[in-house]
Amino acid sequence: MKGSGRAKRTALVTVIFVSVALKTSITNTLNPAARAPLYEHPTADEILHQKIETNKKSHIAADVKTIIHIPSEAKIVAHFHRNRSCSHPQLIGRLSGLFLSKVKWEDRNVVNTNGEYVVVGHYNVPSPGKYFIEVIVTMCTQLDMDVNVTNICMVDPANHRITHLNATVDTEIESANEIGVWFSKMKNYNSTPLYTRYQPPGCLNDPRLASCTGPSDVTRFDPYEFKFLRSFSLKEQLYGKAGRACFVGASHSRVLTQHSNSIIKKLGINNFTAYHQDLRFAASLTQVAAEEMANRCTRVVVGMGQWDVSRAVRRPTSFVEYEKLLNEAMLVFVKTLLDANVGVYFRNMHYNPLYEFLHYCPPRDWRNPNVVDMYSMIVKHLCENYDVPFIDTSDITGVMWDRHADWGHFEDVSGELEALYLLHRIFS
Ligand SMILES: *[C@@H]1O[C@H](CO)[C@@H](O)[C@H](O)[C@H]1NC(C)=O
Ligand SMILES: *[C@@H]1O[C@H](CO)[C@@H](O)[C@H](O)[C@H]1NC(C)=O
Ligand SMILES: *[C@@H]1O[C@H](CO)[C@@H](O)[C@H](O)[C@H]1NC(C)=O
Ligand SMILES: *[C@@H]1O[C@H](CO)[C@@H](O)[C@H](O)[C@H]1NC(C)=O
Repeated sequence: MKGSGRAKRTALVTVIFVSVALKTSITNTLNPAARAPLYEHPTADEILHQKIETNKKSHIAADVKTIIHIPSEAKIVAHFHRNRSCSHPQLIGRLSGLFLSKVKWEDRNVVNTNGEYVVVGHYNVPSPGKYFIEVIVTMCTQLDMDVNVTNICMVDPANHRITHLNATVDTEIESANEIGVWFSKMKNYNSTPLYTRYQPPGCLNDPRLASCTGPSDVTRFDPYEFKFLRSFSLKEQLYGKAGRACFVGASHSRVLTQHSNSIIKKLGINNFTAYHQDLRFAASLTQVAAEEMANRCTRVVVGMGQWDVSRAVRRPTSFVEYEKLLNEAMLVFVKTLLDANVGVYFRNMHYNPLYEFLHYCPPRDWRNPNVVDMYSMIVKHLCENYDVPFIDTSDITGVMWDRHADWGHFEDVSGELEALYLLHRIFS
C-alpha cells in the first residue's frame, strides 16, 4: 500500500511539471456567477506559477527552494533543496482573507530525481481573490505505521513559519469544502493574516509572561464565523422522534456531550438527550462497555486517541498497537452495538494546538498534529474496511485546529458547531 502510494505521487508530480498547462477542473459548488477573475495577470507565466515569498528567518530557511502557487489548480507546491537539513519537512498551511482554508497536503510527499523533497497541497476558497497564506513546518520526519514517535521532536514553533509574514496568493478558482466554510465577518478582512497560535516555553506555568500573550492570543479567531454548505434544521429533523446520542471517549467527548445537550435544550427538542460514556483508551472499547451502552444509547459516536498519546502515559501507544486495538474494537465492541440495533459512528481525533509539552524535545506529550492525523487515518481506514461510518469534521475543527483556549478542548463555538453537525449526521 505504501509503495504504490509513493509511485502514484511521483507520477503526479512529474505530470505537473512536464505539463503545467494541464488544468484540473474543480467543481464549482458556490456562487458560479462570480467566476471571472477579479484582477488581470500580467503574463502567462504568472497565471501558471506564482512564487510565494518565503521567510528568510525560519529554522529551515536554507532548506526551502521555492514555494509556488498554481492558481489554475488551487494548488501549493513546496520544493526543498537536496542538501536540506530537515529531511522530510511536514507542513501545515492556511489561507486567510474573506474565507479561511486549510491546505490539504497530499498524504505522501516525494523525493524527486534531483533529490529535492516536494510537497503538494490543495485549498478550497468559495470566492477567488487575494488571500494571505501561512505555511509552517511541524517536524522533519514523515510518520508511517512503523515510526516510533517517542523521541521525535517538533520544530520549535518560534521560527516555524516558512512563508513570509505578509505572503499572499491570488486565487482564481472557487471551490467548496464538503461541510462548510469559515468566513470573515469583518469589512477589512484582507488587512490581517491569521497566524498559527502556539504556546512559547514557560507559558504553561505563567501565561501572563510578556512573551506568551502574542503567540497565545485567541482573539485572532474572533472575526470568523462558520457557514454550512447545505443548511439544515435539526429541530425539524428530530421532531416527533426520540433518541439518545452517546459520545464515547474522554474529556473531548464530554465537551461534545455538553454542547449537544445545550443545543437540544435551546431548540426545545423533547425526546432527545446526549450522554457521555467516559472511556479513555482504545483498549477500553470492550464488549462489556458495549453491552452497557446498548441499553442506554440509540447512537454512539466514538472519538478516541487523546489519552493513548497524552502526557498521562509514559509511552505513547504505537500506531501498530493503536490499529490492532481499534481492529479488535471493530470486531467486538462495534459488532455488539450493531447487533443491538445501535448506530455506531467514529469521528476524527481533535487536533491540539501547539502547547508547550508538544514541542519539548524530547516531547512530553505526543498529540501533535502529525500524530493526530495518523491516528485519524488509522480509524478512517478501519471504518472503511468494516463499513462503519467515519464522520470527518475537519472542515469545522481542522481549520480552527489551534483555537482552543485551554490548548485541549473545543469549549467554544467550534465545538458547538461540531456537536450540531454530528447530531444532524447521526440522526439523519
Ligand atoms: C543548499 O544549497 C543551496 C544552493 O543550491 C543553498 O542556497 C542553501 O543554503 C543550501 N542549504 C543548506 C541547508 O545547506
Ligand atoms: C520507542 O522508543 C522508545 C524510546 O527509545 C522505547 O522505549 C520504546 O520501547 C519504543 N517503542 C516501540 C514500540 O518500539
Ligand atoms: C507586513 O505588512 C504590514 C502592513 O502592510 C507592514 O506594516 C509590515 O511591515 C509588513 N511586514 C513585513 C515583515 O514586511
Ligand atoms: C416524545 O415521546 C412521547 C412518547 O414516546 C411521545 O408521545 C411524544 O409525542 C414525543 N414528543 C416529541 C416532541 O417528539
